[in-house]
Amino acid sequence: MEKPIVIALDGPAASGKGTLARLIADQYALAYLDTGVLYRGVAWLLLEDGNDPNDAALAAKAAKNFDIEKIENADIRTRKVGAAASVVAANADVRAALLEFQRRFANEPKPGLKGAVLDGRDIGTVVCPDATVKFFVTASADVRARRRWLELSPSRPTLEEATVYKDLVERDARDAARDDAPMTRADDAELLDTTHLSIDAAFAAARRVIDGVTRRCS
Ligand code: DC
Repeated sequence: MEKPIVIALDGPAASGKGTLARLIADQYALAYLDTGVLYRGVAWLLLEDGNDPNDAALAAKAAKNFDIEKIENADIRTRKVGAAASVVAANADVRAALLEFQRRFANEPKPGLKGAVLDGRDIGTVVCPDATVKFFVTASADVRARRRWLELSPSRPTLEEATVYKDLVERDARDAARDDAPMTRADDAELLDTTHLSIDAAFAAARRVIDGVTRRCS
């Protein structure tokens, strides 16, 4: 059987990695996993039960019992859940509990698909260190905050851009400073700075890299 193609995209919040991951998945017939959903899901379940995301034992238990179906209709995209996700993500037991699911998703392609794209913070470094292609997608904090604010403000007209900026910067700092699987660029990851790039231009740049690597490997 042919080895599955695995594309890893890591980077800070609102860098554009999710949009890119979806486009890449469509272009190359790959399954897509937004791994942030898993951490947001665990955080949402804890908050829903009135628990503190800082409670390490409860967070670990929620991650061990995690099932994606439990959060099917949950509103996991709120600021509160984002911040709580970053807190539970610093818990090594939570990360260990979610690791196997992510690796299986990457290595066992769905019927008819050639592999998978995963986006997150530690895909190229921890989850799939042998990924076919790795990207570290980033952009300036100002630009990322503007993008996220434009995304959220239609449904939250009172939300201020400065608040979104503060949330992002706080979350990035926590995600990058934790001991276990911190957000960082893998040595062999291609840096993709989208600060001044349209999504089309970023996608074209990513395609050039992927086509170059897959041509060499085939
Ligand atoms: O990508 P996101 O904003 O949905 O992720 C929410 C939080 O989950 C983020 O602040 C850090 C954490 N996360 C992580 O630690 N590792 C991943 N692979 C994905 C997300």
